[in-house]
Amino acid sequence: MSGGRVIGMISGKGGVGKTSLSVNLGISLSELGREVTVIDTDFSASNLGVHLGRYDHPVKIQHILEGNDHPSSAIFRHPTGVKAMVASNEIDMVEPDPSDIRDAVEHAREVSDYVIVDCPPGLDSTVENIMHACDELMIVTMPTQTSGINAAQIIEKAKDMRIPILGTVINMAKNDPEMEMIEREVEMMTESHIMAKVPYDIEMKKSLFENTPLVNKEPLSEASLEIQELAHRLEGQRFERPRFAKLKRGFKKLKQNVTR
Ligand SMILES: Nc1ncnc2c1ncn2[C@@H]1O[C@H](COP(=O)(O)OP(=O)(O)OP(=O)(O)O)[C@@H](O)[C@H]1O
Ligand SMILES: [Mg+2]
Repeated sequence: MSGGRVIGMISGKGGVGKTSLSVNLGISLSELGREVTVIDTDFSASNLGVHLGRYDHPVKIQHILEGNDHPSSAIFRHPTGVKAMVASNEIDMVEPDPSDIRDAVEHAREVSDYVIVDCPPGLDSTVENIMHACDELMIVTMPTQTSGINAAQIIEKAKDMRIPILGTVINMAKNDPEMEMIEREVEMMTESHIMAKVPYDIEMKKSLFENTPLVNKEPLSEASLEIQELAHRLEGQRFERPRFAKLKRGFKKLKQNVTR
């Protein structure tokens, strides 16, 4: 097999941060000099384009799956350096053929060091086919019991399907004793290595409204730093957290307020 690693960003529950992490991890890896393609496989409720800053491209992944276009025409480069293949909510399609999904992913692999597959939530047959197209899975969960239970179900399924699990990312982690208890439970339930705990960060929500991915908008925020550290870890590199990050962010905010 030539080309890059295909990592599926997956969760049982919706809204846990798969797309946010796919975009920001993809940009962080591309900032390390890697060629990265993020693929939107949420065919019915796609929003990768929105996370990229309302970035659109006329050729969608559905056009590829329907055999109307070559995969290369669906991949475009975002100004941040990351490449993407977006989906459309407007194209009603019956369940895509598993071999077509694999072909689209394999094409992206040929032109990338990393392919990050942003999966839809749930565990239906389309998700299973998408999982089969990935080399390994990164499980995304929130520190809540229900989300942890759903993550555990995905892990069980992945084990049955013999798809390696890279690890679990706990997103929207909060620093309070109750959350710590839930985090530990999620760790136990998912029986997988916790790769990162990305804190709840209001800037993540703001970045979506401001059409700028978080690692570009607020590279020194806690969530950004954790995602950048995860990118370094994938690359086998040590991440030196910038000194006085909080202070620097404070100054930046102050300056923005003064100039407003
Ligand atoms: N660490 C975070 N802190 C605060 N808000 C976050 C964080 N991560 C994601 N969010 C917010 O949570 C919401 C859902 O995120 P996102 O769309 O990435 O989830 P998803 O798992 O891709 O959802 P879906 O299952 O619907 O595709 C968005 O408003 C996003 O800005
Ligand atoms: Mg999503």
